[in-house]
Amino acid sequence: MKRSSRYSEPDGILYLSDADTILRQLGPGSVDMIYMDPPFFSNRILRRPVHGHQGAASFNDQWSSMATYISWLGRFLRLSHRVLSDTGSIFVHLDWHACHYVKVEMDAIFGYENLVNEIIWSYKTGGASRRHFSRKHDNILFYSKSRRYRFRMGTEKSYLKYKYGFSNTDIKQDGNGFYTEVSQRDVWDIPALRGNQPENTHYPTQKPESVVERIVMASTDKGCTVADFFCGSGTLPAVAARTGRRWIACDFSPEAFDTTARRLDAVYRKDGIVL
Ligand SMILES: C[S@@+](CC[C@H](N)C(=O)[O-])C[C@H]1O[C@@H](n2cnc3c(N)ncnc32)[C@H](O)[C@@H]1O
Repeated sequence: MKRSSRYSEPDGILYLSDADTILRQLGPGSVDMIYMDPPFFSNRILRRPVHGHQGAASFNDQWSSMATYISWLGRFLRLSHRVLSDTGSIFVHLDWHACHYVKVEMDAIFGYENLVNEIIWSYKTGGASRRHFSRKHDNILFYSKSRRYRFRMGTEKSYLKYKYGFSNTDIKQDGNGFYTEVSQRDVWDIPALRGNQPENTHYPTQKPESVVERIVMASTDKGCTVADFFCGSGTLPAVAARTGRRWIACDFSPEAFDTTARRLDAVYRKDGIVL
């Protein structure tokens, strides 16, 4: 039986396809925000855990050199620049392996002056080395297409050691103590996905919805079109569906396509079950 290569809902479409093909089909300026979470140049083969062990390969992140990786990713970045609207923006999710090389490539494509933020997503997962400080953050490069980019500043809680010594500041309290509401910083303390969270599909490298939702809420309004051409388990389209954005997603892996389709099915049917 021929397998389906697309899944659609009234406000979005998921393709089983190489990112290149989908990016070339889209019209110039047709997308308001791109979330790109590509392979990180980790030189690993990423596998879904099966009963605590490594299962079959989900995707390959092995490269012959940094130059090969950057030339591969640069192609998608140039195509992304073309499809972004004038008020649009792109968030490229990476880590220490290649982030600084990708920044130089993005400066050339989007313009050094269009780097809006380097966001640090800080988390506390297990695992440490005696040879270096524990590597517990990802880097998200946020570039705009122009200076007219859409952006809505959110707030976060800043906990106070002492409640006293503040004037003209609204001090609030919750179970963790006293806090003030401050503008969101570019360092995001958001827990990594836990195994028992309902949103966890166990697709390797799946990102938490809370990280992606912060990006979507800051950079788009309801009705905007968001895209993820390396969608993996479908975190971006799932968040878009929940928050009233139109979405385009693709991944060339049948496993990723099936995982995303099942996840979206659950979001749209609102049964709360991911897999
Ligand atoms: C880091 S994962 C994305 C994880 C995703 N953000 C999530 O939350 O589940 C990268 C994905 O890129 C896909 N991929 C790699 N090269 C691709 C290409 N040329 N076209 C489409 N997808 C690709 C892989 O199959 C993998 O699922």
